[in-house]
Amino acid sequence: MQGLLIDEARSGALLQGLHTGPDMLSRDYLKAARRVLEDLVAHPDPFAGLTLQRKPGGYARNLLAGDAQVSIWAMVWSPGCATSIHDHHCSCCFGVVSGVVRETWYRAINASQAVPVEAHDRAPGYVACMLPSGPNIHRMENCGDREAISIHIYGFDHQMHASSIETEYALAKL
Ligand SMILES: [Fe+2]
Repeated sequence: MQGLLIDEARSGALLQGLHTGPDMLSRDYLKAARRVLEDLVAHPDPFAGLTLQRKPGGYARNLLAGDAQVSIWAMVWSPGCATSIHDHHCSCCFGVVSGVVRETWYRAINASQAVPVEAHDRAPGYVACMLPSGPNIHRMENCGDREAISIHIYGFDHQMHASSIETEYALAKL
């Protein structure tokens, strides 16, 4: 299990803004997560002082805060790296701090294959929040030639789950 990158007080303050009630899949929760992310991406200075982990050629996850219901991560995307095509077992909210992250949406054609539907380049300041009931199948990729950083808030306990991913899909050959 990964340790926290920021001190407990800051971590607790971040989490406090997310606890809207017992239902972490509600619209109120998503609104709260959006508010937290909008604030983080608009005022990213605190991240400048953090020693974020990097993964050459890939993306690195840095745990900023987490409890039994939610976890907040800073993701560092190396140029050219990408996630798998995947959906989530929990709510997924993210905001871009620096660089550009391309998000491609997919439609499943069976239990293991998906086709692309649309793609968007997400620039600094962009924030998205989604529930797992979508279905929300996507892939994130740093198409640029410099590093990108994004903040992700997931509705999962980082001590219980290794990641937010529910199902991974292969690109369907049509
Ligand atoms: Fe995702």
